[in-house]
Amino acid sequence: MINIEKVSFSYSNTGPMILKDIVLEISEHEFVAVIGNNGSGKTTLAKLLNGIYLPDTGRILVDGMDTRASENRILIKQKVGLLFPEADKQFISSTVEEDVAFGPENLDLKQNEIRARVDNTLKLLSMEDFAKHPPYLLSGGQKQKVGIAGLLAMKPAYLVLDEPGSMLDETGKQEVFQALWQLNKNEGIAIVLITHELSPAIKADRIVLMESGQIKAQCVPEQIVYQPELLRAMQIQPLEISSFIEALNTAHSGLLSMEINDVDKLVEELCRLKQKM
Ligand SMILES: Nc1ncnc2c1ncn2[C@@H]1O[C@H](COP(=O)(O)OP(=O)(O)OP(=O)(O)O)[C@@H](O)[C@H]1O
Ligand SMILES: [Mg+2]
Repeated sequence: MINIEKVSFSYSNTGPMILKDIVLEISEHEFVAVIGNNGSGKTTLAKLLNGIYLPDTGRILVDGMDTRASENRILIKQKVGLLFPEADKQFISSTVEEDVAFGPENLDLKQNEIRARVDNTLKLLSMEDFAKHPPYLLSGGQKQKVGIAGLLAMKPAYLVLDEPGSMLDETGKQEVFQALWQLNKNEGIAIVLITHELSPAIKADRIVLMESGQIKAQCVPEQIVYQPELLRAMQIQPLEISSFIEALNTAHSGLLSMEINDVDKLVEELCRLKQKM
């Protein structure tokens, strides 16, 4: 478990508090989506989770290890994999497999263990056919998956992904979100997904809403996805279907429940209404 205990953080002694009294727990095997508007502190929080930054007050424990203790740093970086949106800049090798091997090579593992980790992680992400490819020739979604594979090869318990879909087209996004979903369900890796988009957050176990450096709310996705106005106030695009129902309801007050979130159900409901007319 990651325990964030009343954590506050500022980038400088004289600067503003960027995170204020954050209290949050992330359990093993959990899928948590973190959403919040620009500048609310999501990236800062992500960097605190694996010890890139340290809390000014409060503490963060990763499976009981305090991120402030220097003897824990290496193990914490291995346990909490952190991926930033610009996967491109993180490539350091000329082939995908060399890139994925980079982390484990620094762990002083035997060559056959490194080989096995590289093969397994590429396979998990359906990227085994690209092992010998130069990373720069891959699509955006594939590049992100190679970035994720590099983290997985370190055998993390938690993956923290900062807007992994932000540079990708729709296909790339689906590819990456699907991979994260499978890693969570099949491999039991806890996922902390920072996202501006609602669609991958719907499947999360929990949504954490951030605003101005604080946690505004924590809830199951159903409690927020059906509230387009609240979402817009947080600069989060509601689901297309919610906006559609909202527009219909503006013209015909209360016609449809906002809690319809798939097209089949919407069609069914419209047919039922038509029969009544
Ligand atoms: N290196 C830094 N030095 C000083 N201030 C910073 C630094 N990085 C971020 N900030 C400030 O911290 C606040 C939170 O930034 P952060 O990047 O964590 O927000 P965010 O929620 O990730 O935003 P976005 O959705 O735009 O990615 C902002 O006010 C930002 O200006
Ligand atoms: Mg950010």
